[in-house]
Amino acid sequence: MSNRVVIHADWSLGTINKNIYGHFAEHLGRCIYEGLWVGEDSPIPNTKGIRQDVLAALKKLNIPVLRWPGGCFADEYHWKDGVGPRENRKRMINTHWGGVVENNHFGTHEFFQLCELLDTEPYICGNVGSGTVQEMSEWVEYMTFDGESPMSRWRQENGREKPWKLKYFGVGNENWGCGGNMTAEYYADQYRRFQTYARNYGDNKLYKIAGGANTDDYHWTDVLMREAHGMMDGLSLHYYTVPGTWENKGLALDFDKQAWFETLQRALRMDELLTRHSTVMDRYDPQKRVGIIVDEWGTWYAVEPGTNPGFLYQQNTMRDAVVAAAHLHIFQKHCDRVQMANLAQLVNVLQSVILTEGEKMLLTPTYHVLEMFKVHQDAEALAFHGKIGEIALENGESLPHVSVSASKKDGKVHVSLCNLSPDESAEFELELRGAEGSHSCAGVILVGDAIDAHNTFENPERVAPAPFEGAKMDGNKLSVKLPAASVVLLTLEA
Ligand code: AHR
Repeated sequence: MSNRVVIHADWSLGTINKNIYGHFAEHLGRCIYEGLWVGEDSPIPNTKGIRQDVLAALKKLNIPVLRWPGGCFADEYHWKDGVGPRENRKRMINTHWGGVVENNHFGTHEFFQLCELLDTEPYICGNVGSGTVQEMSEWVEYMTFDGESPMSRWRQENGREKPWKLKYFGVGNENWGCGGNMTAEYYADQYRRFQTYARNYGDNKLYKIAGGANTDDYHWTDVLMREAHGMMDGLSLHYYTVPGTWENKGLALDFDKQAWFETLQRALRMDELLTRHSTVMDRYDPQKRVGIIVDEWGTWYAVEPGTNPGFLYQQNTMRDAVVAAAHLHIFQKHCDRVQMANLAQLVNVLQSVILTEGEKMLLTPTYHVLEMFKVHQDAEALAFHGKIGEIALENGESLPHVSVSASKKDGKVHVSLCNLSPDESAEFELELRGAEGSHSCAGVILVGDAIDAHNTFENPERVAPAPFEGAKMDGNKLSVKLPAASVVLLTLEA
């Protein structure tokens, strides 16, 4: 048996913050408009303008937190354009994403409405790049102030008597790039200044997130921590899995085994990035009070042929499901530092969980992984050790054959596994230690009939979870046979 793992049910590595199962919705392509918002007069069934089919599907994911309005869009967004009677709202150009008209029909009130319907914590990203301190400060006042003030009065005139509760607030996005092309030193000063005026009103306490590094820019993390760690609760990190080159990205559907390996190798790099950024942060924050907020992650391919290049629309296959599972395992491993992660993006953009076409909707393989894994939310991450076989690659490097994570909650142990090989099954022996009595085992599997298996509007159920029969429990030992390119969730119960 080349894969053998011992799981310690009585050894917690810490709590898995449910917010690592967070999402991101930007005014980009068909994410907000069509994907979420269709408007109250739409023939597509909706609740206060938000489409009901998408809402119902998203509710099943127990989404803990949702980031909005961008992304690059956040640093061009002027929130005052998106409140008040919709017919009077400014029409503007979404210069960053496709140059299309943005009618501002989905604004602050609509976003909080969506979060309420999803029972999700809002995470708002403010505008540093093209905004002012006053604009950001007034947005926080508008949303959270309960007394007499120009902003709270305006909110009330716009139909919301009581302030909303807002915890997560980002001070800019990618300020090293689309958020202003700043240096780390310049942004650190801007961060200190902007966040000063993002006030805590009444008992609303903001969790302030500073704009963090791109991929392996450890200098950025070092400067931000050195200059401002005492003024932030979280520091973001963005890393996308991009096969090919940035200028010539691979395709979402048309790929071979080589591209599968390249994608998985790049996805697993998240582990190294978290280790190294966290080590830099330890220098200033050894208690790990400041969280890493991976508020953009996921696969990024060339757009689907024939679609608007500015809309970043891509399909989603079993390869994406495996990438998602491996990422979530990495976040769970780093639960001492990673306090949130937001998959980019919710609907119709990059590694989406839902795709829509007019009134039609489908769930992607990535959706199913998030649905299967939601049992890990707020559970105790369990320690494990063992031996995992390796896949030797043509470039002389290797990939682990299997990725594993385990957690415990409400007396149940959940073990998630994914087979990173596109064509070889994996035999697995698993031993559960530190849990009394014998356990039953129930499993669910996500696997396709090909590595590029995906759901289409004509065949929306081609990739869907099914009961898993490949695990046999004997006492505290479990033998598992994982099909190639599959994701499995096991529930062990005494
Ligand atoms: O998710 C798409 C874009 O990727 C975001 O707007 C930006 O922050 C990142 O570069």
